Amino acid sequence: MPDTFTRLPGLADVHVHLRVPGGAHKEDFFTGTAAAIAGGFTTVLAMPNTTPPIVTREALHAVQQQAKVEALCDVHFYAGASPGHLDELPILAQNTVGLKLYADQTYGPLRVEKLSTLLACFQRWPRGKPIAMHAEGRTVAVGIGLATAFDQHVHICHVSRKDEISLIAAAKARGLPITCEVTPHHLFLTEADAARLGPLGDMHPRLATQADVDALWAHIHTTIDCIATDHAPHTLAEKNGSDAPPGVPGLETALPLLLTAVAEGRLSQEQLIALLAYNPRRIFGLPEQPETWIEVDTQTPYILSNAELHTKCGWSPFSGMKVRGKVRCVYFRGHLLFQDGIFHPMDHL
Ligand code: NCD
Ligand code: ZN
Ligand code: ZN
Ligand code: ZN
Repeated sequence: MPDTFTRLPGLADVHVHLRVPGGAHKEDFFTGTAAAIAGGFTTVLAMPNTTPPIVTREALHAVQQQAKVEALCDVHFYAGASPGHLDELPILAQNTVGLKLYADQTYGPLRVEKLSTLLACFQRWPRGKPIAMHAEGRTVAVGIGLATAFDQHVHICHVSRKDEISLIAAAKARGLPITCEVTPHHLFLTEADAARLGPLGDMHPRLATQADVDALWAHIHTTIDCIATDHAPHTLAEKNGSDAPPGVPGLETALPLLLTAVAEGRLSQEQLIALLAYNPRRIFGLPEQPETWIEVDTQTPYILSNAELHTKCGWSPFSGMKVRGKVRCVYFRGHLLFQDGIFHPMDHL
């Protein structure tokens, strides 16, 4: 390894939409995990807001079998919370990393509206595996309240606002069982970028003010447990059409953006590894990946470009940005899986 390269552990992204089943024109297990590997992630946690959603044993079994054949890295799944399938939760818990609960409206069919459904989820989901919540604004307080009442670990997804992170910091200071993630887009973009990007800058939660972004950075070494991409690919035709779906891809841009922040002294390399590897593994109880690491060129500046992406959607809101931190090699279970843009897939996955 050249001494300008830095060796890091294989990263884990706890919030990824791989779009299987029902959305393979946006992404599939092969293209989504190729994007993961190219971005330095050797583990991804797949979200259940697919068509149909992952709310039954049959649906879970089918995606797990398909991922075994098609995925280039480790994929673990969330179960989805849905009022019609609450009985299945204890069984789904055995083969998933957590329960995903959509407490506010976003892309997909899984919004939980009723308090009775929230209660049933917290009663039936076994303790020990997190309940990850899409919660925006005051719904974050609902998540903290449920976590407290039921002594259940709640993981708040894609925290984006100053008030939200302040509330989570207060809850953690009291020792409540709360963890949280932030996305690179909420750390590196503001509502000014949303105006510039149009539909390509539209996601849930929306991009926020500079004061919100500053508040997230102020908590980066304390309150924030994970950086997760919320990789949410949609095609350019869908994004530029009427009724455009929210969501942006992120697997291939997260590490360069964050290593650039390390180079600028905004984030320590130790904290980067905690946020992208150690904390995700601890919080979601992810298995060890022996002989798995990545090698990154942290010195040479380059421009993020759509042409180099592996995600099927083929675009990024960060295209054109100058960064440092290119993934040069990925070793996956002792096998050189990726080197300078070329994949050498394992035959025995
Ligand atoms: C996500 C998607 O497209 O699945 N979209 C988004 O804007 N973040 C759903 C979600 O994570 O809320
Ligand atoms: Zn969400
Ligand atoms: Zn998401
Ligand atoms: Zn091999």
